[in-house]
Amino acid sequence: MKSKLIKSIPATLLLTLGLSSTTLANADERTPILVEPAELDALLGEMRSFLEAVQSITEGIAKDNMEAVSQAASVMGMRAAQGVPAPLMAKLPLEFKKLGMVTHQAFDEISLSASISDEPIEIVAELSELLLNCTACHASYRFGIQHQGN
Ligand code: HEC
Repeated sequence: MKSKLIKSIPATLLLTLGLSSTTLANADERTPILVEPAELDALLGEMRSFLEAVQSITEGIAKDNMEAVSQAASVMGMRAAQGVPAPLMAKLPLEFKKLGMVTHQAFDEISLSASISDEPIEIVAELSELLLNCTACHASYRFGIQHQGN
């Protein structure tokens, strides 16, 4: 899929952009984290929950419903970080785990702020900070399938 897409970019455009096809082929420099299929499902499921929480938080802010913001944020707080099985924990790089923890903590902080502040713009600023964890991790890592017996 990906290589087809790259081939379909006209060479002239690549030249305009100052890129060679070699640069593009090596563009994905994210560190792969190899996990089993069931672990991948769990990890990606958590990711989708992160995005759902961000959606609910922004909706709550738009509707000026800070209670809903606080509730939505608390769902992805530290309590959501519990229960990662030890074998999966062992496969996750330390930096990845740290970023994950900091992200869960930031949701707890938003939950607290929303419960005491009536300044929606403050919550938006906190959410913007929180989202930097998402983008930093996405820029650094990708998941891959570790086949049984590897
Ligand atoms: C500690 C690292 C890390 C953090 C923090 C993180 N992600 Fe991810 N996320 C990943 C990785 C790795 C993938 C898989 C990317 C790949 O394999 O191409 C992913 C994938 C996703 C996906 C795709 C899910 C699917 O079903 O394919 C979504 C959506 C997502 N993340 C949302 C978020 C949001 C929103 C946040 C922040 C609130 C967040 N993530 C924080 C590492 C992280």
